[in-house]
Amino acid sequence: MARWVSRRRFLQTTSLTAAGAGLAGSAAVAASSAETAPADQKIKIIGIACSPRKGKTTAQAVRVALEAAKAVAPDRIEVELIELADLEIPGYVAAGIPLKEGQRDDFPPLAEKLADKQTAGIIVGSPVYFGCMSYLCKAFFDRCIVLRKQFALSGKVGGAVAVGAGRNGGQELTLQAIRTVLSSHEMVLVGDGKPTAHWGATVWNNGKDDITQDEMGMATLKNLGRRVAEVALACR
Ligand SMILES: Cc1cc2nc3c(=O)[nH]c(=O)nc-3n(C[C@H](O)[C@H](O)[C@H](O)COP(=O)(O)O)c2cc1C
Repeated sequence: MARWVSRRRFLQTTSLTAAGAGLAGSAAVAASSAETAPADQKIKIIGIACSPRKGKTTAQAVRVALEAAKAVAPDRIEVELIELADLEIPGYVAAGIPLKEGQRDDFPPLAEKLADKQTAGIIVGSPVYFGCMSYLCKAFFDRCIVLRKQFALSGKVGGAVAVGAGRNGGQELTLQAIRTVLSSHEMVLVGDGKPTAHWGATVWNNGKDDITQDEMGMATLKNLGRRVAEVALACR
């Protein structure tokens, strides 16, 4: 694919300094994200599954997208699936409220991983909850305000996955909500690539927690993963 865009140029237009971030962990985040990895170094694409149900349809869906991403250039691309079901991410901290005593907070290490220069793409998958993203997804996104303060995700490629129990249960609304957040970080948004080519992966849970029968949804997942990988490589 033609190298039509330089991620370095994206980053040059932002000021990635810790100054003014005002929150713990931000200096480390800034330091790790200020440079992109050299062009010959492996890139990483992280998938985040935002369901409280570990290993269920959202995690399965994001895994399909990640496998398709990896298949684009197995020698150059590493993928990692992170399930928010495994993590404690208290959303209220985003509003400046101190962490309650005894409360675990798994967000800082996740933030560092996302901001790392090796991370070139992020795929966020959410179950559809009343036509929007899940509460876990929202809490995670709200905590990402520390990254937004430094534009630490600027120039990284972003894609979205939505899984719903209805065939038309609000997947596109959920994609739109996710994409709205990603665009606020100055990420490079991609959708599912051709031939489906819309705004991300729209997946149907058939009521048996089995997405593999959803031919169209599976196609959008694979096309999304491929597209994220292609653009992430081109941005190096
Ligand atoms: C609180 C709640 C609200 C939901 N709202 C919707 C909805 O608006 N549209 C829809 O298609 N499915 C809805 N669902 C179904 C889930 O999106 C669906 O079961 C999804 O596959 C769950 O993802 P998971 O298997 O990763 O947990 C809802 C489920 C829950 C628990």
